[in-house]
Amino acid sequence: MGLFGPLKPLHRAEEDGKALAKTLSWPHLMALGIGGIIGTGIYTLTGVGAGLAGPGVILSFALCGLVCACAALCYTEMSTMIPAAGSAYTYTYSAIGEIAGWVVGWALILEYSLACSSVAVGWSAHLVGFLNETIGLQLPAALMNAPHAGGLVNLPAVLVSLSVMGLLLVGARESATINIFLVIIKIVALGAFIVLGLPAIQAGNYDPFAPFGFIGQQMGGEKVGIMAAAAIVFFAFFGFDAVSTSAEEAKNPGRDLTVGILGSMGVSTLIYMLVAAVAVGVVPFAEIASSAEPLPHILREIGYTTVAAFVGGAAIVALPSVILVMMYGQSRIFFVMARDGLLPPAVAKVNKKGSPALITLITGVFVAIFAGFVPLKEIAALSNAGTLIAFIAVALSMIILRKKMPDVTRTFKVPAHLLVGGAAILGCGFIFYSLPVQSQLFTFVWMIAGLIVYFSYGRWNSRLRKGT
Ligand code: ALA
Repeated sequence: MGLFGPLKPLHRAEEDGKALAKTLSWPHLMALGIGGIIGTGIYTLTGVGAGLAGPGVILSFALCGLVCACAALCYTEMSTMIPAAGSAYTYTYSAIGEIAGWVVGWALILEYSLACSSVAVGWSAHLVGFLNETIGLQLPAALMNAPHAGGLVNLPAVLVSLSVMGLLLVGARESATINIFLVIIKIVALGAFIVLGLPAIQAGNYDPFAPFGFIGQQMGGEKVGIMAAAAIVFFAFFGFDAVSTSAEEAKNPGRDLTVGILGSMGVSTLIYMLVAAVAVGVVPFAEIASSAEPLPHILREIGYTTVAAFVGGAAIVALPSVILVMMYGQSRIFFVMARDGLLPPAVAKVNKKGSPALITLITGVFVAIFAGFVPLKEIAALSNAGTLIAFIAVALSMIILRKKMPDVTRTFKVPAHLLVGGAAILGCGFIFYSLPVQSQLFTFVWMIAGLIVYFSYGRWNSRLRKGT
Protein backbone atom coordinates (compact mmCIF):
# COMPACT_ATOMS: atom_id res chain seq x y z
CA MET A 1 0.00 0.00 0.00
CA GLY A 2 1.45 3.34 -1.03
CA LEU A 3 0.45 6.86 -0.13
CA PHE A 4 -1.91 6.84 -3.11
CA GLY A 5 -3.61 3.51 -2.42
CA PRO A 6 -2.53 -0.05 -3.27
CA LEU A 7 0.19 -0.67 -5.89
CA LYS A 8 -0.69 -2.93 -8.78
CA PRO A 9 1.84 -5.81 -8.95
CA LEU A 10 3.74 -6.10 -12.24
CA HIS A 11 2.68 -8.79 -14.72
CA ARG A 12 -0.75 -9.66 -13.40
CA ALA A 13 -2.48 -9.09 -16.69
CA GLU A 14 -2.94 -12.56 -18.10
CA GLU A 15 -5.32 -13.99 -15.60
CA ASP A 16 -8.82 -15.37 -15.54
CA GLY A 17 -8.75 -15.92 -19.31
CA LYS A 18 -9.22 -12.17 -19.69
CA ALA A 19 -5.96 -11.53 -21.55
CA LEU A 20 -6.04 -10.04 -25.04
CA ALA A 21 -4.92 -12.15 -28.04
CA LYS A 22 -1.25 -11.78 -29.10
CA THR A 23 -1.57 -10.89 -32.76
CA LEU A 24 0.66 -7.84 -33.38
CA SER A 25 4.27 -7.58 -34.55
CA TRP A 26 6.59 -4.55 -34.91
CA PRO A 27 5.51 -3.42 -38.42
CA HIS A 28 1.94 -3.32 -37.09
CA LEU A 29 3.03 -1.41 -34.00
CA MET A 30 5.14 1.09 -35.94
CA ALA A 31 2.25 1.68 -38.35
CA LEU A 32 -0.05 1.97 -35.35
CA GLY A 33 2.30 4.64 -33.95
CA ILE A 34 2.62 6.63 -37.17
CA GLY A 35 -1.09 6.07 -37.80
CA GLY A 36 -1.83 7.76 -34.48
CA ILE A 37 0.81 10.48 -34.73
CA ILE A 38 0.47 12.01 -38.20
CA GLY A 39 -2.98 13.55 -38.50
CA THR A 40 -4.96 16.68 -37.76
CA GLY A 41 -1.99 18.17 -35.94
CA ILE A 42 0.25 18.55 -38.98
CA TYR A 43 -2.56 18.83 -41.55
CA THR A 44 -4.51 21.64 -39.85
CA LEU A 45 -2.86 22.90 -36.66
CA THR A 46 0.32 23.94 -38.51
CA GLY A 47 -1.68 26.97 -39.66
CA VAL A 48 -2.98 27.76 -36.17
CA GLY A 49 0.55 27.40 -34.78
CA ALA A 50 1.98 29.71 -37.47
CA GLY A 51 -0.65 32.30 -36.50
CA LEU A 52 0.45 32.13 -32.86
CA ALA A 53 4.24 32.04 -33.36
CA GLY A 54 5.05 33.17 -36.93
CA PRO A 55 7.91 31.24 -38.60
CA GLY A 56 9.01 30.45 -35.03
CA VAL A 57 6.45 27.65 -35.18
CA ILE A 58 9.37 25.56 -36.50
CA LEU A 59 10.89 25.96 -33.02
CA SER A 60 7.52 25.05 -31.43
CA PHE A 61 7.59 21.79 -33.40
CA ALA A 62 11.22 21.19 -32.45
CA LEU A 63 10.51 21.79 -28.75
CA CYS A 64 7.51 19.45 -28.75
CA GLY A 65 9.56 16.87 -30.65
CA LEU A 66 12.29 17.03 -28.03
CA VAL A 67 9.90 16.76 -25.09
CA CYS A 68 7.94 13.96 -26.75
CA ALA A 69 11.14 12.09 -27.59
CA CYS A 70 12.01 12.11 -23.87
CA ALA A 71 8.49 10.96 -23.03
CA ALA A 72 8.68 8.29 -25.74
CA LEU A 73 11.88 6.91 -24.20
CA CYS A 74 10.12 6.68 -20.82
CA TYR A 75 7.12 4.99 -22.44
CA THR A 76 9.39 2.48 -24.14
CA GLU A 77 11.12 1.47 -20.92
CA MET A 78 7.83 1.19 -19.07
CA SER A 79 6.06 -0.74 -21.80
CA THR A 80 8.84 -3.30 -22.14
CA MET A 81 9.03 -3.62 -18.35
CA ILE A 82 5.24 -3.90 -17.89
CA PRO A 83 3.96 -5.31 -21.20
CA ALA A 84 0.35 -5.21 -20.05
CA ALA A 85 -2.48 -3.26 -21.60
CA GLY A 86 -3.39 0.04 -19.98
CA SER A 87 -0.33 2.14 -20.75
CA ALA A 88 0.19 5.20 -18.53
CA TYR A 89 -2.70 4.13 -16.30
CA THR A 90 -1.12 0.75 -15.55
CA TYR A 91 2.41 2.13 -15.06
CA THR A 92 1.19 4.78 -12.62
CA TYR A 93 -0.96 2.25 -10.76
CA SER A 94 2.13 0.06 -10.28
CA ALA A 95 4.59 2.83 -9.47
CA ILE A 96 2.62 5.41 -7.48
CA GLY A 97 -0.66 3.82 -6.45
CA GLU A 98 -4.30 3.28 -7.26
CA ILE A 99 -5.58 6.83 -6.85
CA ALA A 100 -2.78 8.24 -9.01
CA GLY A 101 -3.42 5.48 -11.58
CA TRP A 102 -7.10 6.33 -11.66
CA VAL A 103 -6.36 10.05 -12.11
CA VAL A 104 -4.08 9.22 -15.06
CA GLY A 105 -6.70 6.86 -16.53
CA TRP A 106 -9.23 9.66 -16.23
CA ALA A 107 -6.82 12.06 -17.97
CA LEU A 108 -6.35 9.49 -20.75
CA ILE A 109 -10.09 9.72 -21.48
CA LEU A 110 -9.48 13.38 -22.34
CA GLU A 111 -6.50 12.46 -24.48
CA TYR A 112 -7.92 9.57 -26.48
CA SER A 113 -11.62 10.32 -26.73
CA LEU A 114 -11.29 14.03 -27.40
CA ALA A 115 -8.49 13.40 -29.91
CA CYS A 116 -10.84 11.00 -31.74
CA SER A 117 -13.64 13.52 -31.65
CA SER A 118 -11.52 16.43 -32.84
CA VAL A 119 -9.94 14.43 -35.65
CA ALA A 120 -13.45 13.32 -36.70
CA VAL A 121 -14.61 16.94 -36.81
CA GLY A 122 -11.46 17.95 -38.72
CA TRP A 123 -12.05 15.10 -41.16
CA SER A 124 -15.61 16.29 -41.70
CA ALA A 125 -14.37 19.79 -42.57
CA HIS A 126 -11.87 18.36 -45.08
CA LEU A 127 -14.61 16.27 -46.68
CA VAL A 128 -16.97 19.23 -47.01
CA GLY A 129 -14.20 21.36 -48.53
CA PHE A 130 -13.03 18.61 -50.89
CA LEU A 131 -16.53 17.87 -52.25
CA ASN A 132 -17.10 21.57 -52.74
CA GLU A 133 -13.76 22.17 -54.52
CA THR A 134 -13.78 19.13 -56.79
CA ILE A 135 -17.42 18.55 -57.79
CA GLY A 136 -19.06 21.72 -56.46
CA LEU A 137 -21.28 19.72 -54.09
CA GLN A 138 -22.66 21.79 -51.20
CA LEU A 139 -23.92 19.71 -48.29
CA PRO A 140 -26.64 21.18 -45.99
CA ALA A 141 -24.99 23.20 -43.20
CA ALA A 142 -27.45 21.86 -40.60
CA LEU A 143 -25.99 18.36 -40.98
CA MET A 144 -22.34 19.47 -41.17
CA ASN A 145 -22.08 21.47 -37.96
CA ALA A 146 -22.59 20.98 -34.25
CA PRO A 147 -25.45 22.96 -32.65
CA HIS A 148 -23.14 25.80 -31.51
CA ALA A 149 -21.98 26.39 -35.09
CA GLY A 150 -25.38 26.95 -36.62
CA GLY A 151 -26.16 23.30 -37.34
CA LEU A 152 -27.99 20.37 -35.78
CA VAL A 153 -25.35 17.68 -35.81
CA ASN A 154 -21.99 17.09 -37.50
CA LEU A 155 -23.16 14.00 -39.33
CA PRO A 156 -19.95 13.10 -41.23
CA ALA A 157 -18.03 13.26 -37.93
CA VAL A 158 -20.54 10.92 -36.29
CA LEU A 159 -20.45 8.53 -39.24
CA VAL A 160 -16.66 8.35 -39.42
CA SER A 161 -16.47 7.71 -35.67
CA LEU A 162 -18.98 4.86 -35.87
CA SER A 163 -17.30 3.36 -38.96
CA VAL A 164 -13.94 3.22 -37.19
CA MET A 165 -15.65 1.60 -34.22
CA GLY A 166 -17.00 -1.03 -36.62
CA LEU A 167 -13.48 -1.74 -37.89
CA LEU A 168 -12.24 -2.25 -34.35
CA LEU A 169 -15.05 -4.66 -33.61
CA VAL A 170 -13.85 -6.82 -36.52
CA GLY A 171 -10.55 -7.31 -34.65
CA ALA A 172 -7.24 -5.60 -33.93
CA ARG A 173 -5.17 -7.52 -36.48
CA GLU A 174 -7.39 -6.71 -39.44
CA SER A 175 -7.64 -3.06 -38.44
CA ALA A 176 -3.88 -2.75 -38.00
CA THR A 177 -3.33 -4.17 -41.49
CA ILE A 178 -5.68 -1.61 -43.07
CA ASN A 179 -3.88 1.00 -41.00
CA ILE A 180 -0.55 0.22 -42.74
CA PHE A 181 -2.05 1.26 -46.11
CA LEU A 182 -3.42 4.50 -44.68
CA VAL A 183 -0.05 5.31 -43.15
CA ILE A 184 1.68 4.89 -46.51
CA ILE A 185 -0.84 7.24 -48.16
CA LYS A 186 -0.25 10.05 -45.68
CA ILE A 187 3.53 9.72 -45.76
CA VAL A 188 3.46 9.94 -49.57
CA ALA A 189 1.23 13.04 -49.40
CA LEU A 190 3.46 14.84 -46.89
CA GLY A 191 6.53 13.75 -48.87
CA ALA A 192 5.05 15.32 -52.01
CA PHE A 193 4.38 18.53 -50.09
CA ILE A 194 8.00 18.69 -48.90
CA VAL A 195 9.58 17.85 -52.27
CA LEU A 196 7.47 20.35 -54.23
CA GLY A 197 7.62 23.05 -51.57
CA LEU A 198 11.36 23.02 -50.84
CA PRO A 199 12.44 24.77 -54.09
CA ALA A 200 9.77 27.45 -53.56
CA ILE A 201 11.08 28.59 -50.17
CA GLN A 202 11.86 32.32 -49.96
CA ALA A 203 14.31 33.16 -47.21
CA GLY A 204 12.55 36.49 -46.60
CA ASN A 205 9.52 34.66 -45.20
CA TYR A 206 11.58 33.55 -42.18
CA ASP A 207 12.12 37.15 -41.15
CA PRO A 208 11.09 38.18 -38.51
CA PHE A 209 11.41 34.69 -37.10
CA ALA A 210 9.52 35.19 -33.84
CA PRO A 211 7.18 38.19 -34.25
CA PHE A 212 5.31 37.35 -31.01
CA GLY A 213 8.31 36.32 -28.93
CA PHE A 214 8.80 33.16 -26.92
CA ILE A 215 6.11 33.74 -24.30
CA GLY A 216 3.85 36.57 -25.34
CA GLN A 217 0.41 37.88 -24.55
CA GLN A 218 -2.14 39.76 -26.62
CA MET A 219 -4.93 42.05 -25.51
CA GLY A 220 -7.49 40.12 -23.48
CA GLY A 221 -4.78 37.88 -22.05
CA GLU A 222 -4.66 35.47 -25.01
CA LYS A 223 -1.36 33.63 -24.97
CA VAL A 224 0.77 33.94 -28.13
CA GLY A 225 4.38 33.20 -29.08
CA ILE A 226 6.46 30.10 -29.60
CA MET A 227 5.30 28.38 -26.39
CA ALA A 228 1.59 29.08 -27.00
CA ALA A 229 2.03 27.54 -30.45
CA ALA A 230 3.87 24.60 -28.89
CA ALA A 231 0.92 24.02 -26.55
CA ILE A 232 -1.32 23.62 -29.62
CA VAL A 233 0.96 21.79 -32.10
CA PHE A 234 1.77 19.32 -29.31
CA PHE A 235 -1.42 17.66 -30.58
CA ALA A 236 0.53 16.63 -33.68
CA PHE A 237 2.98 14.51 -31.69
CA PHE A 238 1.11 12.16 -29.46
CA GLY A 239 -0.26 8.89 -30.66
CA PHE A 240 2.95 6.89 -30.25
CA ASP A 241 1.76 6.17 -26.72
CA ALA A 242 -1.14 4.21 -28.19
CA VAL A 243 1.46 1.62 -29.20
CA SER A 244 2.08 0.94 -25.53
CA THR A 245 -1.63 0.41 -24.90
CA SER A 246 -1.39 -2.62 -27.14
CA ALA A 247 1.65 -4.04 -25.34
CA GLU A 248 -0.30 -7.08 -24.22
CA GLU A 249 -1.11 -7.92 -27.83
CA ALA A 250 2.53 -7.78 -29.03
CA LYS A 251 4.10 -11.10 -30.03
CA ASN A 252 7.61 -10.13 -28.91
CA PRO A 253 7.11 -7.13 -26.60
CA GLY A 254 10.80 -6.24 -26.12
CA ARG A 255 11.63 -5.83 -29.81
CA ASP A 256 8.17 -4.89 -31.10
CA LEU A 257 7.54 -2.08 -28.61
CA THR A 258 11.00 -0.52 -28.85
CA VAL A 259 10.91 -0.36 -32.64
CA GLY A 260 7.22 0.59 -32.66
CA ILE A 261 7.43 3.53 -30.26
CA LEU A 262 10.87 5.00 -31.02
CA GLY A 263 10.61 4.32 -34.77
CA SER A 264 7.22 5.95 -35.25
CA MET A 265 8.22 8.94 -33.12
CA GLY A 266 11.49 9.48 -35.02
CA VAL A 267 9.94 9.20 -38.50
CA SER A 268 7.10 11.58 -37.63
CA THR A 269 9.30 14.23 -36.01
CA LEU A 270 11.59 14.31 -39.05
CA ILE A 271 8.62 14.75 -41.40
CA TYR A 272 7.10 17.49 -39.18
CA MET A 273 10.25 19.58 -39.06
CA LEU A 274 10.45 19.52 -42.85
CA VAL A 275 6.74 20.23 -43.36
CA ALA A 276 6.81 23.16 -40.89
CA ALA A 277 9.98 24.65 -42.41
CA VAL A 278 8.52 24.41 -45.91
CA ALA A 279 5.08 25.72 -44.86
CA VAL A 280 6.32 28.97 -43.32
CA GLY A 281 9.11 29.33 -45.88
CA VAL A 282 6.96 29.22 -49.01
CA VAL A 283 4.27 31.78 -48.04
CA PRO A 284 4.13 34.56 -45.40
CA PHE A 285 2.92 32.92 -42.17
CA ALA A 286 -0.17 35.13 -41.86
CA GLU A 287 -1.50 33.59 -45.04
CA ILE A 288 -1.72 30.08 -43.64
CA ALA A 289 -2.81 31.16 -40.16
CA SER A 290 -6.39 31.52 -41.33
CA SER A 291 -6.50 28.45 -43.57
CA ALA A 292 -8.36 25.32 -42.41
CA GLU A 293 -6.28 23.28 -44.86
CA PRO A 294 -2.87 25.02 -44.94
CA LEU A 295 -0.95 22.35 -46.86
CA PRO A 296 -3.21 22.14 -49.95
CA HIS A 297 -3.53 25.94 -49.78
CA ILE A 298 0.25 26.37 -50.08
CA LEU A 299 0.47 23.90 -52.97
CA ARG A 300 -2.24 25.78 -54.86
CA GLU A 301 -0.34 29.02 -54.24
CA ILE A 302 2.72 27.64 -56.04
CA GLY A 303 0.68 26.22 -58.90
CA TYR A 304 0.34 22.52 -58.01
CA THR A 305 -3.46 22.30 -57.98
CA THR A 306 -3.67 18.58 -58.75
CA VAL A 307 -1.17 17.66 -56.04
CA ALA A 308 -3.08 20.00 -53.69
CA ALA A 309 -6.23 17.94 -54.32
CA PHE A 310 -4.23 14.76 -53.73
CA VAL A 311 -2.89 16.03 -50.39
CA GLY A 312 -6.39 17.13 -49.34
CA GLY A 313 -7.77 13.76 -50.48
CA ALA A 314 -5.04 11.94 -48.55
CA ALA A 315 -6.15 13.75 -45.39
CA ILE A 316 -9.69 12.50 -45.98
CA VAL A 317 -8.52 8.94 -46.58
CA ALA A 318 -5.91 8.84 -43.83
CA LEU A 319 -7.27 10.86 -40.90
CA PRO A 320 -9.56 7.98 -39.94
CA SER A 321 -6.41 5.99 -39.14
CA VAL A 322 -5.72 8.46 -36.33
CA ILE A 323 -9.22 7.90 -34.99
CA LEU A 324 -8.59 4.16 -35.31
CA VAL A 325 -5.44 4.23 -33.21
CA MET A 326 -6.86 6.58 -30.60
CA MET A 327 -10.13 4.70 -30.25
CA TYR A 328 -8.22 1.46 -30.04
CA GLY A 329 -6.13 2.94 -27.24
CA GLN A 330 -9.18 4.25 -25.41
CA SER A 331 -11.05 0.95 -25.53
CA ARG A 332 -7.98 -0.85 -24.13
CA ILE A 333 -7.65 1.66 -21.28
CA PHE A 334 -11.32 1.28 -20.32
CA PHE A 335 -10.90 -2.48 -20.62
CA VAL A 336 -8.02 -2.59 -18.16
CA MET A 337 -9.68 -0.18 -15.73
CA ALA A 338 -12.75 -2.41 -15.73
CA ARG A 339 -10.60 -5.54 -15.36
CA ASP A 340 -9.07 -3.92 -12.28
CA GLY A 341 -12.54 -3.32 -10.85
CA LEU A 342 -12.34 0.48 -11.08
CA LEU A 343 -15.09 0.43 -13.71
CA PRO A 344 -17.94 -2.13 -13.76
CA PRO A 345 -16.32 -5.56 -14.46
CA ALA A 346 -19.15 -6.82 -16.68
CA VAL A 347 -17.82 -4.64 -19.50
CA ALA A 348 -14.30 -6.18 -19.41
CA LYS A 349 -15.30 -9.36 -21.25
CA VAL A 350 -13.33 -10.21 -24.40
CA ASN A 351 -15.07 -11.81 -27.39
CA LYS A 352 -13.94 -14.91 -29.33
CA LYS A 353 -11.40 -12.82 -31.26
CA GLY A 354 -9.84 -11.54 -28.04
CA SER A 355 -11.23 -8.01 -28.46
CA PRO A 356 -13.13 -6.18 -25.73
CA ALA A 357 -16.31 -5.72 -27.80
CA LEU A 358 -18.63 -3.99 -25.35
CA ILE A 359 -16.00 -1.47 -24.29
CA THR A 360 -15.20 -0.74 -27.93
CA LEU A 361 -18.89 -0.10 -28.55
CA ILE A 362 -19.22 2.24 -25.57
CA THR A 363 -16.06 4.13 -26.60
CA GLY A 364 -17.26 4.52 -30.19
CA VAL A 365 -20.64 5.90 -29.16
CA PHE A 366 -19.02 8.29 -26.64
CA VAL A 367 -16.62 9.60 -29.31
CA ALA A 368 -19.42 9.94 -31.88
CA ILE A 369 -21.55 11.99 -29.47
CA PHE A 370 -18.69 14.42 -28.80
CA ALA A 371 -17.84 14.60 -32.49
CA GLY A 372 -21.44 15.28 -33.47
CA PHE A 373 -22.51 17.74 -30.83
CA VAL A 374 -19.54 19.37 -29.12
CA PRO A 375 -17.60 22.42 -30.42
CA LEU A 376 -14.24 21.66 -32.01
CA LYS A 377 -12.73 24.80 -30.53
CA GLU A 378 -10.67 23.91 -27.47
CA ILE A 379 -11.13 20.14 -27.91
CA ALA A 380 -7.59 19.75 -29.20
CA ALA A 381 -6.24 21.84 -26.30
CA LEU A 382 -8.13 19.67 -23.81
CA SER A 383 -6.84 16.55 -25.47
CA ASN A 384 -3.32 17.98 -25.10
CA ALA A 385 -3.95 18.68 -21.42
CA GLY A 386 -4.92 15.06 -20.75
CA THR A 387 -1.91 13.80 -22.68
CA LEU A 388 0.54 16.06 -20.85
CA ILE A 389 -0.71 14.74 -17.50
CA ALA A 390 -0.19 11.17 -18.71
CA PHE A 391 3.33 11.89 -20.05
CA ILE A 392 4.37 13.47 -16.74
CA ALA A 393 3.00 10.46 -14.84
CA VAL A 394 4.88 7.98 -17.06
CA ALA A 395 8.21 9.80 -16.66
CA LEU A 396 7.66 9.97 -12.89
CA SER A 397 6.74 6.27 -12.76
CA MET A 398 9.87 5.36 -14.71
CA ILE A 399 12.08 7.26 -12.24
CA ILE A 400 10.27 5.82 -9.18
CA LEU A 401 10.44 2.20 -10.39
CA ARG A 402 14.16 2.53 -11.22
CA LYS A 403 14.67 3.26 -7.53
CA LYS A 404 12.09 0.88 -6.07
CA MET A 405 12.61 -2.11 -8.37
CA PRO A 406 16.11 -1.79 -9.84
CA ASP A 407 16.39 -5.53 -10.53
CA VAL A 408 13.27 -6.12 -12.59
CA THR A 409 14.18 -6.95 -16.22
CA ARG A 410 13.86 -4.02 -18.62
CA THR A 411 14.40 -4.90 -22.27
CA PHE A 412 14.93 -1.21 -22.97
CA LYS A 413 16.46 1.24 -20.49
CA VAL A 414 16.25 5.03 -20.81
CA PRO A 415 19.83 6.39 -21.05
CA ALA A 416 20.64 9.06 -18.40
CA HIS A 417 17.20 8.32 -16.94
CA LEU A 418 17.09 11.20 -14.44
CA LEU A 419 18.00 13.73 -17.10
CA VAL A 420 15.61 12.35 -19.73
CA GLY A 421 12.78 11.73 -17.25
CA GLY A 422 13.30 15.15 -15.69
CA ALA A 423 13.28 16.83 -19.10
CA ALA A 424 10.01 15.07 -19.97
CA ILE A 425 8.39 16.18 -16.69
CA LEU A 426 9.58 19.80 -16.87
CA GLY A 427 8.94 20.10 -20.62
CA CYS A 428 5.38 18.76 -20.34
CA GLY A 429 4.76 20.99 -17.32
CA PHE A 430 5.91 24.04 -19.27
CA ILE A 431 3.72 23.14 -22.26
CA PHE A 432 0.74 22.64 -19.92
CA TYR A 433 1.42 26.07 -18.43
CA SER A 434 1.33 27.52 -21.98
CA LEU A 435 -2.17 26.14 -22.73
CA PRO A 436 -5.13 28.55 -22.83
CA VAL A 437 -6.32 29.32 -19.27
CA GLN A 438 -9.83 28.06 -20.12
CA SER A 439 -8.47 24.62 -21.04
CA GLN A 440 -6.45 24.48 -17.83
CA LEU A 441 -9.56 25.27 -15.77
CA PHE A 442 -11.70 22.69 -17.56
CA THR A 443 -9.02 20.05 -17.01
CA PHE A 444 -9.03 20.84 -13.30
CA VAL A 445 -12.83 20.45 -13.12
CA TRP A 446 -12.60 17.20 -15.12
CA MET A 447 -10.07 15.81 -12.65
CA ILE A 448 -12.25 16.71 -9.66
CA ALA A 449 -15.16 14.92 -11.35
CA GLY A 450 -12.87 11.90 -11.82
CA LEU A 451 -12.01 11.79 -8.14
CA ILE A 452 -15.72 11.93 -7.25
CA VAL A 453 -16.35 8.94 -9.53
CA TYR A 454 -13.41 7.08 -7.98
CA PHE A 455 -14.56 7.62 -4.41
CA SER A 456 -18.13 6.66 -5.36
CA TYR A 457 -17.31 3.47 -7.28
CA GLY A 458 -13.70 2.40 -7.86
CA ARG A 459 -12.58 2.82 -4.25
CA TRP A 460 -15.17 0.19 -3.19
CA ASN A 461 -14.86 -2.19 -6.10
CA SER A 462 -11.10 -2.24 -6.73
CA ARG A 463 -10.00 -5.86 -7.11
CA LEU A 464 -6.70 -5.07 -5.41
CA ARG A 465 -8.44 -3.61 -2.37
CA LYS A 466 -10.89 -6.49 -2.22
CA GLY A 467 -8.00 -8.91 -2.58
CA THR A 468 -9.56 -10.80 -5.49
N1 ALA B 1 -1.19 13.35 -33.36
C1 ALA B 1 -2.52 13.18 -33.79
C2 ALA B 1 -2.91 14.16 -34.81
O1 ALA B 1 -2.18 15.04 -35.12
C3 ALA B 1 -3.47 13.18 -32.63
O2 ALA B 1 -3.98 14.08 -35.36
